[in-house]
Amino acid sequence: MAPPVDLHSLRQLALDAVGQAAGLLIDKRPDRVDVAATKSSPTDVVTEMDRSAERLIVNLIKERRPDDGVLAEEGSADTGTTGVRWLVDPIDGTVNYLYGLPGWSVSIGVEVDGDLAVGVVGVPTFGESYTAVRGEGAYLDDKRIWCNPPADLAYALVGTGFGYEAARRAHQADVVRGLLPRVRDLRRFGSCAADLCAVAAGRLDAYYERGTQPWDLAAGVLIAREAGARVEGLRGLPPSSDMAVAAPPGLFETIHDLLVDLHADRD
Ligand code: IPD
Ligand code: CA
Ligand code: CA
Repeated sequence: MAPPVDLHSLRQLALDAVGQAAGLLIDKRPDRVDVAATKSSPTDVVTEMDRSAERLIVNLIKERRPDDGVLAEEGSADTGTTGVRWLVDPIDGTVNYLYGLPGWSVSIGVEVDGDLAVGVVGVPTFGESYTAVRGEGAYLDDKRIWCNPPADLAYALVGTGFGYEAARRAHQADVVRGLLPRVRDLRRFGSCAADLCAVAAGRLDAYYERGTQPWDLAAGVLIAREAGARVEGLRGLPPSSDMAVAAPPGLFETIHDLLVDLHADRD
């Protein structure tokens, strides 16, 4: 039987990788960041800095834990043999990074035997790092954090994000039309991982989004859960690209039911 994995050493490696990637992304950011390629749509962009940061992170993981699996947004994929898998988004919020806006993040989640076990999200422009180890709570730097108590829907500040494809966005606009009159307000910050951490820290009451990927969700989902939030898809499904909703129990159910009524998990 494989020896148990030391989750604290995985957390430290994730923190080291996020720290080094943040240093690269801040120090080596050219005055004008160029788009290197586009992905799902002409506005779904990748820059050389996404690729360099991913290389740095994956090389560090492979140097210290050569047999682990990796799934990273810009193409690194390896199943590994240890049961440990690293889910990496080298820049979550590339459009913010491209425009010189703050709030983009570096996100690393770690699964052990298919279950989320460690999450680290760095938000370098704010000098903040969120971390969680399964069962041990969520932290913003050294401070333990908790999501807000459940607000009434009318007083809830809700984060969301939009996909890159026009057809999906048209339906997302309809969902916003149904939601906006019912809540305190909406925020669209531009990084799914940072949004989930904002729920964890009580900076948002809730967050929902359709179309996010495993590397967007992994770390932030664990951090939000460890801060007391309920993080799921619709109708009892796990959070996925169909839908991810994060909110404290008590508010989760209300937002969930509204999103079901608004068909938010369809295009
Ligand atoms: C995006 C960000 C954004 C979310 C999109 C993601 P990227 O990731 O998380 O907030 O709305 O769904 O694709 O492309 O900047 O890594
Ligand atoms: Ca992303
Ligand atoms: Ca990305």
